[in-house]
Amino acid sequence: AQQWRGVIAEYADRLPEHVRRTVVTLGEGGTPLVAAPVLSERAGAEVFVKVEGMNPTGSFKDRGMTSAISAAADRGAKAVVCASTGNTSASAAAYAVRAGMVCAVLVPDGKIAMGKLSQAVAHGAKLLQVDGNFDDCLVAARKLAEAYPVELVNSVNPDRIEGQKTAAFEIVDALGDAPDIHVLPVGNAGNITAYWKGFREYAQDGPATRTPVMWGFQAAGAAPIVLGHPVDEPETIATAIRIGNPASWQQAEEARDTSGGLIEAVTDEEILAAHRVLSAEVGVFVEPASASGVAGLLKLAAAGCVPAGARITITVTGHGLKDPQWALRTPDGGDVQPVRVTADVVSIADALGLD
Ligand code: F0G
Repeated sequence: AQQWRGVIAEYADRLPEHVRRTVVTLGEGGTPLVAAPVLSERAGAEVFVKVEGMNPTGSFKDRGMTSAISAAADRGAKAVVCASTGNTSASAAAYAVRAGMVCAVLVPDGKIAMGKLSQAVAHGAKLLQVDGNFDDCLVAARKLAEAYPVELVNSVNPDRIEGQKTAAFEIVDALGDAPDIHVLPVGNAGNITAYWKGFREYAQDGPATRTPVMWGFQAAGAAPIVLGHPVDEPETIATAIRIGNPASWQQAEEARDTSGGLIEAVTDEEILAAHRVLSAEVGVFVEPASASGVAGLLKLAAAGCVPAGARITITVTGHGLKDPQWALRTPDGGDVQPVRVTADVVSIADALGLD
C-alpha cells in the first residue's frame, strides 16, 4: 500500500489553491481513531479517541502548520512568528526548518513543558520567553507581524484552519459518517473552529449525512468562554490551554450554538484523573491538556447527561512525552518511587510477587 502523503496531498480537493501549490509536509495526519471500550462502558456510549499525539511533532498543530507554512512559502515568506503555550512553537519550528524559513516563537516565561521547549530549540527557532502569559504573547506576535516582514502562523491565520479541518474529514472517513458528538479541549479555540468547519463541509457536499454536536472543555482556572468574560491570570496544570482570552472565541461559540453543543469547564483534578484513565486503562499516553475532553465526557456521564448508545469521538491533542512529569505523581500528589532490586532472578521474581 502507498504511504500516507500528509494532509494536503490526501485532501487536496478540499483545500485552497494557495495552500496546495508549494507543499511543505512532514507526513502529518492519518492518525489512529482508537476504540476505547473502557470509556464506552463508563459513558454508556460508543467512544473512540483520535490520537493526535501521533503527528510528526507530537500534536494536532502539524495539520494546520503544513498548510500555514505551505501558504507562507507560496507567498515567498522568509520568516514566521507565533505565540505559543508550546505545541504551536514546536510545530512551527519543525515546518520552518523544512521550508528554509526563520522561525521566531514567543512563549510565556516558565510555563512551557520541557518536551515542547526542547523541540523548538532543537529545530533552531529563535525562542523568546516573554514576561507575560500566552495572551500577552499573542498580542505581541500579531503586532510584530503587522509591522515587520514576518508571517503570523497562529490559528488566527486562516491557512491554519484549512489544514486542521482535515481531522474532521479523517473521523468521518473512518466511521462512514459523522459521530453523534465530537469532544475536544478548548484553549485559543482554533481547533474547535477547524473541526466545525471540516464537519460542516463534509455534511454539505461530502460523505457525511449530518454534523455532530460539539462538546468543548476548558480548564476551570482558564475558562473564559464558560464564564463569559476574559480571565486576566489564567491558571491550570494543563499549560497548553492556560489561555484567558481566546482569539477564536466567537467561532467557538458559533460551533457550540449551531451544533446544539456545549462548552464547559473541568478542574485540574478531573483532568489528571482522566489522564490516568487514558494511560492506565485505555493505553493512550497524552499530555494533561489533552485529557480535558475525556475529563468532560466522564463528568457529563456521571451526571447522566450522555445520550445512551451515542457514537462519540474525542480528540486527544498532544503526546504524553511532551510533558511526562504528571505520570510520575501519585493521585495524592506524592512521587512515584521505583522498586529497587538486585540483578538476580529470585529477588526480581520476589518483587513481582511470583511464586
Ligand atoms: N491541546 C493541546 C495539547 C494544545 O497544545 C492546545 C493549544 C489545545 C489543546 C487547545 O487548542 O488552542 O486550538 O483551542 N495549544 C496552543 C499552542 C495554544 O500554543 O500550542 P486550541
